[in-house]
Amino acid sequence: MILSKKNNILITGCAGFIGFHVTKKLLEENYSCVGIDNINNYYDQKLKKERLKVLKTYDNFIFKKVDISKKNDFNKLKNKLFSIVINLAAQAGVRYAFEKPHSYINSNIIGFLNLMNFMKNNKIKKLIFASTSSIYGDIKTYPWSEKLNVNTPLTIYSSSKIFNENLAYSYSKYYGIQSLGLRFFTVYGEYGRPDMSIYKFTKNILENKEIVIFNKGDHTRDFTHVDIIKDIFSNLISTKKWKEIFKNKNFEIINIAGGSKVKLLKLVKLIEKFCGKKAKKKFVGLQLGDIKQTEASLTKLKKYKLSRKKITIDQGIKRFVLWYKKYAKF
Ligand SMILES: NC(=O)c1ccc[n+]([C@@H]2O[C@H](COP(=O)([O-])OP(=O)(O)OC[C@H]3O[C@@H](n4cnc5c(N)ncnc54)[C@H](O)[C@@H]3O)[C@@H](O)[C@H]2O)c1
Repeated sequence: MILSKKNNILITGCAGFIGFHVTKKLLEENYSCVGIDNINNYYDQKLKKERLKVLKTYDNFIFKKVDISKKNDFNKLKNKLFSIVINLAAQAGVRYAFEKPHSYINSNIIGFLNLMNFMKNNKIKKLIFASTSSIYGDIKTYPWSEKLNVNTPLTIYSSSKIFNENLAYSYSKYYGIQSLGLRFFTVYGEYGRPDMSIYKFTKNILENKEIVIFNKGDHTRDFTHVDIIKDIFSNLISTKKWKEIFKNKNFEIINIAGGSKVKLLKLVKLIEKFCGKKAKKKFVGLQLGDIKQTEASLTKLKKYKLSRKKITIDQGIKRFVLWYKKYAKF
């Protein structure tokens, strides 16, 4: 256990997909959580508000509308003491980087710097932050290991996440902030993101609309069910794992993946099966910034024994489609 249940955990991006699940899990375990989010309109704000509605049913939850890219917004947190910060706020998405590059700079670079300065000024010494599999770009050495040199990002999104890792490293050196970067590989699950393929495919299949399949469906992804992520956060905070990880160092990076590599066409088939409908498929070429294959090395994740959960892609997709049908009233 790395903190008393009375101490606050600060979670950024709590109204987002992963932030929601992680916050809910920690609230269920009776931690006091302060969640912040700017509820931006990158995707349907209704879904973010639905998630927040669930979180607000817990007595141990406080929400503050904070934009981490605005330094003065942090004044809204000034009377609180935090033992750990979990940073899940970011401008996510790979393709949007070509439309709105500045939003990555604002949230992921300026916002991350503001957050780290907030930690420094308030002497908060523990940070878990989201990184991404995208930083491996199109490196062809599989599986992708944390040891690989990642300096060939394909998008601003990936560059901004490399910056996060580098800045967290510098602050861990200068200010002794123990920082753990988690490189998430395609996370999916209930309350998932509308801009991601599982959500888009399910929605369009159920609405009898065409689905667009990039690279003729030949992409492979190492999918991660969000339950695995919840489990990892719970273990990191409630067990001795933290001390084990930071025994001789102040900085660590770990790949987080479910280990189920799935081709895009197989994914479509599964979604069709659970929707009970065939998709109208439109095949198109590779898109700008797209990565054909992701595959994580899980050596470190296994070494630290952070999660024993196994969720097959069949189980995960079934759960997602059932959730979506209820959410969208199908
Ligand atoms: N979902 C995935 O497959 C995946 C994969 C790799 C990495 N990640 C990373 O995990 C984290 C969470 O991703 P997600 O899928 O939950 O995304 P999400 O977009 O659902 O959640 C991000 C949340 O952060 C908020 N936010 C954005 N900019 C902000 C700002 N300036 N101030 C305050 N709040 C802000 C958004 O409103 C949103 O609610 C992100 O850092 C993302 O880059 C996600």
